Amino acid sequence: MNTAIEVEGLVKVYRGGVRAVDGISFSIREREIFGFLGPNGAGKSTTIKCVIGLLRPTSGTIRVLGKDVRRDPGAVKRNIGYAAQETAVDDRLTGWENLYLQGRFYHLSRREIRRRGEEVLKLFGLWERRNDTADTYSGGMLKRLDIACALIHRPRILFLDEPTLGLDVQTRKTIWDYIERLRSEHGMTIFLTTHYMEEADVLSDRVAIIDRGRIVALDRPGALKAGIGGDLITVRFSTGDGLEPLLRSLKALPGVREIREAQDGIHRIVVEKNGDQLIPEIVRLAQDHGIGIHSIRLKRPTLDDVYLHYTGRQIREAEGSREELIRSRVMARRIRR
Ligand SMILES: Nc1ncnc2c1ncn2[C@@H]1O[C@H](COP(=O)(O)OP(=O)(O)OP(=O)(O)O)[C@@H](O)[C@H]1O
Ligand SMILES: [Mg+2]
Repeated sequence: MNTAIEVEGLVKVYRGGVRAVDGISFSIREREIFGFLGPNGAGKSTTIKCVIGLLRPTSGTIRVLGKDVRRDPGAVKRNIGYAAQETAVDDRLTGWENLYLQGRFYHLSRREIRRRGEEVLKLFGLWERRNDTADTYSGGMLKRLDIACALIHRPRILFLDEPTLGLDVQTRKTIWDYIERLRSEHGMTIFLTTHYMEEADVLSDRVAIIDRGRIVALDRPGALKAGIGGDLITVRFSTGDGLEPLLRSLKALPGVREIREAQDGIHRIVVEKNGDQLIPEIVRLAQDHGIGIHSIRLKRPTLDDVYLHYTGRQIREAEGSREELIRSRVMARRIRR
């Protein structure tokens, strides 16, 4: 697979001294969905803006499709689409007019815009509403239109800064489907930032966790979870003579790290990975030893646990102030009009 994006030692210090990005390196393969996960102020938007050439890095090198962003910004910009954290849609214009305008910015011909515009509006489920002004759109539709605008010139790489910020769970999932289709049907590479654990987990092939301008972990979501500890199987056995020999056999199973006993016949079995595959084996061995099972439960580490492990904080702590921030941004837009 070819490399789509290569970032080495990126540092961004804003005027005034804020070190927003503090020496990060990563590379993204073509057709990869790469998630950048982190709390408010972690440096996600700053990283994106540097990678696409909107901000000048303090130091470091960035190559997009083999081209150096600083030396060849035009070549990079032709190949990328960008949907910013705050939507760039003009809500006095219709969906179609917004797309048309964006197409003209890219010097597309009217014919190209017509063909391509129809394609993206249909892809994003907005075709029927194309002639309505965007101020009649829901939050989810606005975000979809914004992403559609970023696609008008057929970019090979799409940058999405918080594509589902402030949207409800259902709408968020619809947008995930669209993003997934851009990759599977159009072979697009997608770099997205998010502070939603589930979004990073479900959507990304690989996730970088960014905290205070540094990448603290980077891997496939499954590997990140496996890396911080195994699955936990909690079983409540019936009592009986067979229990001790059963526990001995369970301890001897490959992948079992330890068995801790709590009260009332409850045992916690810590396994390295794939706890789900061990459950049938546990049931079979219990039967062999004449021991019944009252209940059995599997808990796997979540990306939340991974985040906590690497940053010592839970990402949700930042949520409250964030929702307020979004509301105030929406308000600001309404007042401006
Ligand atoms: N134009 C700017 N001038 C000075 N400081 C800035 C500027 N833009 C961002 N910062 C600061 O840089 C840091 C990183 O900001 P950035 O917007 O990249 O974070 P983020 O991860 O995108 O956060 P959020 O989740 O809130 O969008 C923050 O401390 C922020 O206050
Ligand atoms: Mg941001």
